[in-house]
Amino acid sequence: MIRDLLLRDYFITDQILLKPLVEKDLYFTLEVRNTPEVRKYFVDNSIIAFDSHRRWFIDYLTKNDECMFCIFYNCVRAGQIGVYNYNKHQRSIEIGRLFIECGLQGNGIMRKVLSHVMNHICCVGFIDKILLSCKMSNSRAISLYNSLGFVTLTHRTKLIEGDLLVAMVYHCAPIIRKT
Ligand SMILES: CC(C)(COP(=O)(O)OP(=O)(O)OC[C@H]1O[C@@H](n2cnc3c(N)ncnc32)[C@H](O)[C@@H]1OP(=O)(O)O)[C@@H](O)C(=O)NCCC(=O)NCCS
Repeated sequence: MIRDLLLRDYFITDQILLKPLVEKDLYFTLEVRNTPEVRKYFVDNSIIAFDSHRRWFIDYLTKNDECMFCIFYNCVRAGQIGVYNYNKHQRSIEIGRLFIECGLQGNGIMRKVLSHVMNHICCVGFIDKILLSCKMSNSRAISLYNSLGFVTLTHRTKLIEGDLLVAMVYHCAPIIRKT
């Protein structure tokens, strides 16, 4: 159901396009995800082999409540973002697995992508909060999430390999329906 509602192309600006992740994107996404500057911010920061990355992708294709996107900037692959872990009872969903290729960081790409994705999630009508987690050392990402309205859930902060993992939440504004 989540896939039916969210997994499609999004034309965010003239330069930024979001497309559902397909198998031919995997070489790019894995290469960027495996660079030391990117994987150090992932909870599992080990280098992933292509075979296991492909197996993860095949498994992902069977999950109706997960959406993975490849981000294009000026028609070239630039990064990735994922939406997953829909929780019907909490009316929540998680955003993560996100990165922008090192050479394209700092151009405002992820700010626009996140803001667009958050807006679409809140518009489905049955999701009240968006969750994400981030290592405390990742000050650039935390500053980005804070500026978009995410707040820290301090009680869910925990230690992972010497770094704090900060849980954050964004509360969707209530939709006012006409009576
Ligand atoms: C975090 C990340 C996704 C941000 O993507 P991005 O496209 O570079 O981000 P943006 O250009 O949209 O910048 C967003 C904010 O990041 C911060 N930022 C950007 N460049 C920065 C820099 N050189 N130094 C410090 N903060 C910076 C700023 O708060 C900026 O907001 P601003 O618009 O007010 O300047 C990207 O840096 C990345 O891929 N990092 C490695 C992987 C990672 O950390 N993933 C997230 C795991 S939770």
